[in-house]
Amino acid sequence: MLVKIFLALSSVSPHIKKLLWKQWYQFLASHYPTKKWSFMNYGYTAIDDHAETLKLNEADETDRYAIQLYHHVTGAVDLTNLDVLEIGSGRGGGASYVARYLKPKTLTAMDFSDRAIQFCKHAHVVDELSFLKGDAESLPFDAASFDAVINIESSHCYGSMETFLANAKRVLRQNGYFLYADFRNKNDVSLLQSQMEKSGMKILKREDITANVLRSLDLDDQRKLILIRALFRDWLLKPFQEFAGMKGSKIHFGFQSRTMIYLHYVLQK
Ligand SMILES: C[S@@+](CC[C@H](N)C(=O)[O-])C[C@H]1O[C@@H](n2cnc3c(N)ncnc32)[C@H](O)[C@@H]1O
Repeated sequence: MLVKIFLALSSVSPHIKKLLWKQWYQFLASHYPTKKWSFMNYGYTAIDDHAETLKLNEADETDRYAIQLYHHVTGAVDLTNLDVLEIGSGRGGGASYVARYLKPKTLTAMDFSDRAIQFCKHAHVVDELSFLKGDAESLPFDAASFDAVINIESSHCYGSMETFLANAKRVLRQNGYFLYADFRNKNDVSLLQSQMEKSGMKILKREDITANVLRSLDLDDQRKLILIRALFRDWLLKPFQEFAGMKGSKIHFGFQSRTMIYLHYVLQK
């Protein structure tokens, strides 16, 4: 019921959609400030069982699938010694992974939820990593400040994708990279493609990773179920299972039936 109301209201206008998402992320960050939960994406895994396994420290193994999404999306570019911005950094696990493993010169992780930013400042203390509140559609940075922008599973919350892309382009240096992943209803896939084409940046890569994301959801389902049952009260269990894309959820069915498509893009300014 809650999910239905949320979806109905968010389809009224882009402004309301953005407002609702903000309230949701503010609520999650303020009510669940646990360090056991650092990611809010659907994850990625190879389809081929013989694919090389990403080497992770023991402590990061729990978040393997969510980390693999970051690893896959950022993998097109060597981020060593670059100035990197993440937009929509959520609970900060991805920014922490990128800062610790991929060694950028600086990593600025930004989110419009100030509660999430407060949480991240305590949860992820890593050299060269800083967290800052800001809106993807009005980036609080000078032009040409970054060599790469990372944006993972966040843009579906925005009021205007065009405004966001113009902002991302503005803060990138010439030849800088835009590293992106998110899902769309299949009817909006061609709109996203034309938004990318009109962004004024060059599309270096476009990849449909729906099958990889779906496999990750399946492989991570049990672990997430245990975490969700431990964290959430009864009335939030169902909405949260929907949000997390658990087996039986609309989003899981959407990826299965390919009415929802998960895309990865790499653009260059
Ligand atoms: C599904 S979570 C993904 C978080 C993180 N990228 C990850 O993979 O774990 C989406 C995030 O985008 C953020 N977000 C949504 N709209 C935003 C906006 N307009 N500006 C900045 N952040 C935004 C939300 O607050 C939330 O933390």
